Amino acid sequence: MIIVIDGPAGSGKSSTARAIADRMGIEYLDSGALYRTATLIYLEANRDKETFFRLLNQNKITFYYEDQKFHVLVDGQSVTDKIRTSKVTSAVSEVAALPRVRSFVNNLMRDVVLDGVYIAEGRDLGTAVFPDAELKFFMSADLEERAKRRLNERKEKNPGLTLEEVKQNIAERDLKDSRRKADPLKKADDAIEIDTTNLTFEQQVDKICLEISEVLKEIE
Ligand code: CDP
Repeated sequence: MIIVIDGPAGSGKSSTARAIADRMGIEYLDSGALYRTATLIYLEANRDKETFFRLLNQNKITFYYEDQKFHVLVDGQSVTDKIRTSKVTSAVSEVAALPRVRSFVNNLMRDVVLDGVYIAEGRDLGTAVFPDAELKFFMSADLEERAKRRLNERKEKNPGLTLEEVKQNIAERDLKDSRRKADPLKKADDAIEIDTTNLTFEQQVDKICLEISEVLKEIE
């Protein structure tokens, strides 16, 4: 069974999905982390597409969720922290727009969810990757609010970061993610929209957990 949450940067998808996975004892899948991993490989290939695609096919990418963290390994080496650097964040939307990268990441995800119950989050999961998902959510929030949340998350590791910089970065990414030809960021027609601008974290988690419990009850 697969439950998906899509939405723009900073809408709260990842923290919410992790809290739900922990509370309900289900698996968590972070599609953005896989695009970030592809981006790291692209940067290590010095943006040379031929080298990049060769490495993407040669390297073995594995991942698992543990202790509130989505861990990614490339050929057995952890890249969990490396994929969160600003260098990767700045290049990720460009790499995620490449159709070959999208089908690569989609295949990785479709293979893994064959067994068990998963909550997955991303941009196009309800529309392109898992159109038959049992439950779909689309999380949104005002740009200002999303930027504040992202700054809070990042400020410990990056004390010089300003609200304006964060706002600009997520606005640019949203635009690229929504306008790209290949599987853009988009709400699925049958997704439940959750605007989190005025919700507390607990409220948004409760809301989604309630919907999931209803569906699980129907299935049992
Ligand atoms: O956590 P944050 O909102 O910063 O982004 P992320 O979920 O880590 O995703 C990073 C980037 O990957 C996004 O800006 C998209 O360009 C891309 N992405 C995508 O194209 N499709 C997805 N299903 C997930 C992420």
